[in-house]
Amino acid sequence: MYVCLCNSVSDKTIRQVVRRYQPQTFQQLRNFVPVGTQCGKCVRVARQIMEDELQQI
Ligand code: FES
Repeated sequence: MYVCLCNSVSDKTIRQVVRRYQPQTFQQLRNFVPVGTQCGKCVRVARQIMEDELQQI
């Protein structure tokens, strides 16, 4: 499922990036994947996915 339509970023991609790089902030996540860089509508959901995945590591 696409989370960020502007940049075609899926939830799967976000989870993979979180597992690999373990970003501690949303800004750090954006260093690895271009999510939330345009309209910003996806930021809340993307952040939730990041936090959910971090808890499972
Ligand atoms: Fe992610 Fe627009 S949907 S920046």
